[in-house]
Amino acid sequence: MNINNAKFEKGAVKPDQYPDNDIPEITFVGRSNVGKSSLINALLNRKNLAKVASKPGRTREINFYNIDDTVYFVDLPGYGYAKVSKDVKSAWGESIETYLNTSKKLKLIIMVVDIRISPTEDDKMMNRWLANSSLPYIVVATKADKITRSKLKERLLDISSTLELDDNIPLIPFSAETKQGREDIMNYITSVL
Ligand code: GTP
Ligand code: MG
Repeated sequence: MNINNAKFEKGAVKPDQYPDNDIPEITFVGRSNVGKSSLINALLNRKNLAKVASKPGRTREINFYNIDDTVYFVDLPGYGYAKVSKDVKSAWGESIETYLNTSKKLKLIIMVVDIRISPTEDDKMMNRWLANSSLPYIVVATKADKITRSKLKERLLDISSTLELDDNIPLIPFSAETKQGREDIMNYITSVL
């Protein structure tokens, strides 16, 4: 995939605010602070296009990044941030769910987990939802620079067994620091477009 012009187009909360066109969408979901925005920046070779949060739980809107009017990268608000009220949590969940249930242009969902941490109940719920939908998805285990190479296999096994990930769902180790895994992920994106 050749990237010439990548830009932030809009933040949306409700469906009537989503872009009104036929451009396909690649959508990133995962826990708050897991590294979704960093992954988007690394894939696009941009340093600060998607806002990397200094404090977790700040991204409340669904952010649409327009790449050459050919594809959107969609950054969903992170789920599972403990330090917000129940009301805010359910509003987040609702906007994520509404988006996933509504968008007709979704080509691939990239679920992001932290390679160091066993998937949480929220992650398991997200994975179950994705597995039961007919939407194509992959799982990216990010922050791989934070573990030693010898631990890699063990961590990936823990993630796939905790999530009860189906064998045919790709699980790709990645690091925004070293760009490990970037090519693999870009190949998946290209193959679904
Ligand atoms: P929310 O928007 O709050 O849901 O967070 P996010 O999932 O978009 O995470 P973000 O990309 O903002 O990253 C959160 C923190 O993790 C930042 O301090 C990043 O620098 C750091 N981070 C993200 N990816 C990596 C990685 O691959 N390696 C390392 N070492 N740090 C990372
Ligand atoms: Mg973010």
